Amino acid sequence: MRSILSVADLSSPEMASLIERSGALKKQIRSGRPPPALRGKVVGLLFEKPSTRTRTSFEVATIRLGGDPVYLSASELQLTRGEPVKDTARILGGYLDVIVGRVYSQETLTQLAKHSGRPVVNALSDAEHPTQIISDLFTIKEAKGHLEGLTTVFVGDGNNVSNSLLLGGALTGMNVTVACPEGYEPDQDIFRKAKSLAAKSGAELEVVRDPKGAVAEADVVYTDVWVSMGDESEKEKRMAAFRDYQVGSTLMKAAPKGAIVMHCLPAHRGLEITDDILEGRQSVAWRQGENKLYGAAASLEFVSKKQ
Ligand code: CP
Ligand code: NVA
Repeated sequence: MRSILSVADLSSPEMASLIERSGALKKQIRSGRPPPALRGKVVGLLFEKPSTRTRTSFEVATIRLGGDPVYLSASELQLTRGEPVKDTARILGGYLDVIVGRVYSQETLTQLAKHSGRPVVNALSDAEHPTQIISDLFTIKEAKGHLEGLTTVFVGDGNNVSNSLLLGGALTGMNVTVACPEGYEPDQDIFRKAKSLAAKSGAELEVVRDPKGAVAEADVVYTDVWVSMGDESEKEKRMAAFRDYQVGSTLMKAAPKGAIVMHCLPAHRGLEITDDILEGRQSVAWRQGENKLYGAAASLEFVSKKQ
């Protein structure tokens, strides 16, 4: 039984296979002939935070693959009245075949996996967003034809998405540079883990301050919100800290013309990205959003098959 709590739970061949399956499932789902990989299975979606894309793509992927989704808003569970995660996990494990969880703390996912006896998929935590990166690597491969040797520059907050991107680059041989202000670096333990994985794949990983210098050689410029879910109390401080980290036409003038622009969405136009860039010819954000469905399908197929 396999869970996906972190990108680091996957080997390089497994990540390659998930990217390949995302592409195959895209064709199969679009042509109306997806495989019934989840027939007879019930997938529970336990969400502590809002979601448009991840929730809907996992629910639809479950249905397309012949399974049944059950959405569980954490705010409506006894969790909010003090029932421990481990008790919740034991009960849900008796009902469900797979648990997809969006949580504040990565530890909640660890507990869910430990006590449910079911595969758990991380649908975003404070530490990582692994299924976002599975579908994003597929989107980059779709646009550029390959991953190895490319350079993706993540501009802004060294958050959950940047952490998973570093690990994803390390597994696939794609260089990742995070350009962020001081105090907003990616998680140190995850960066160290990514560095050790990168030693095998040859990916170069670095954290820099200057976004302009960083994007000069970029194949992909990636950004995300300045204020992640859970960081709302730091909003004003963050607005000041990230002022020089906007992906707008000034920054994109410093990047190669062929660079693509990615955003995991939701986007805040005028903050981390400008409208002209998000809607412009270099943006693949909308295709990236659609591809979350195929990454979700590949992830569900992966955790529900007998290993
Ligand atoms: N990209 C992403 O995870 O979007 P949602 O928050 O809408 O799920
Ligand atoms: N870093 C963002 C991603 C949203 C999809 C957050 O955690 O809110």
